[in-house]
Amino acid sequence: QPRVFSGIQPSGGLTLGNYLGALKRFADMQDEGNFETIYCMVDLHAITVWQDPETLKRNTRELCAGFIASGVDPEKSILFNQSQVPEHAQLAWVFNTVARMGWLNRMTQFKDKAGKNRENSSVGLFAYPALMAADILIYHATHVPVGEDQKQHVELTRDIAAKFNHDYGVDFFPITEPVIEGAATRVMSLRDGSKKMSKSDPSDMSRINLTDDADAIASKLRKARTDPDALPSEIEGLSERPEARNLINIYAAFADMTPEQVLEEVGGKQFSEFKPMLADLAVSKLSPISSEMSRLMQDQSEIDKILRRGAERAREITAPILAKTYDIVGLVA
Ligand code: TYM
Repeated sequence: QPRVFSGIQPSGGLTLGNYLGALKRFADMQDEGNFETIYCMVDLHAITVWQDPETLKRNTRELCAGFIASGVDPEKSILFNQSQVPEHAQLAWVFNTVARMGWLNRMTQFKDKAGKNRENSSVGLFAYPALMAADILIYHATHVPVGEDQKQHVELTRDIAAKFNHDYGVDFFPITEPVIEGAATRVMSLRDGSKKMSKSDPSDMSRINLTDDADAIASKLRKARTDPDALPSEIEGLSERPEARNLINIYAAFADMTPEQVLEEVGGKQFSEFKPMLADLAVSKLSPISSEMSRLMQDQSEIDKILRRGAERAREITAPILAKTYDIVGLVA
């Protein structure tokens, strides 16, 4: 059976980009029933940049609540926290010896995150993609749903799997497919259509947080930057209009439609008419999620129980794959 793996960092609040680009699709793939689905809070990735310890614990539990409130069912999927399954870090070490410096040097996320401060970045931030490859390959996952920004990392995962198989003369790790599908694989900032929506943007008006209330969601969408023209009826009409395109994509993703279908319905309308439609749709989909998140957050011991159970189930898969990897590499058991 094909197996899905994906992860999210518990490094602060969840945005609409995380929801439409990842969480909603995780729940959809789980419910389609064609895949075994495994989803992870990647706390070991989060600490590659500084995290306050108490805040990290809180964010990890809140992220778990976010997964469940978005429709990931811990009975149907394996839902767990990365550091509770030690085989991730163990396989990552082996992959640190497989990945080449030159490959990691080309990673755009590292360049963006390290910025001008490369010399002072953590070694973990540089080696981040080898840990991500281990996350995926310790399950022999075949499909990885992610947003557009993670494509390069999944491609590196394929390179690591191929080099491992080649160097050791085995056919052990699968060559994983990134699954970058749907209308919202790259949700853009509400203030600037050329920038990705991100939790690290200094302007809170640039993003919708999963914890925003209905008023905040409506006001952010009403104030979203747009151009003065009416919406086109054909998709080509959006090619030079990144802000309009972003709002249409968001609408399409919420409504499970294609952007073309949305334009058939709203082509010709002004933003003054379209934005309230979008706000209503967004509020109707997001409000139940944020209230479910706060409800779940009231019982921390229940969340911790779910995470422990998820880690136990994960280890049934990871322990034998790590043992086999060690044997292939020549590490004496
Ligand atoms: P992270 O935590 O930055 O983001 C989690 C997921 O949300 C997607 N995403 C977006 N999608 C559309 N539009 C946006 N504006 C937007 N912002 C974020 C991301 O593409 C991602 O799918 N390295 C990963 C975490 C990770 C992982 C893995 C993913 C660690 N191990 C193994 C898949 C498989 C990351 O930093 O995601």
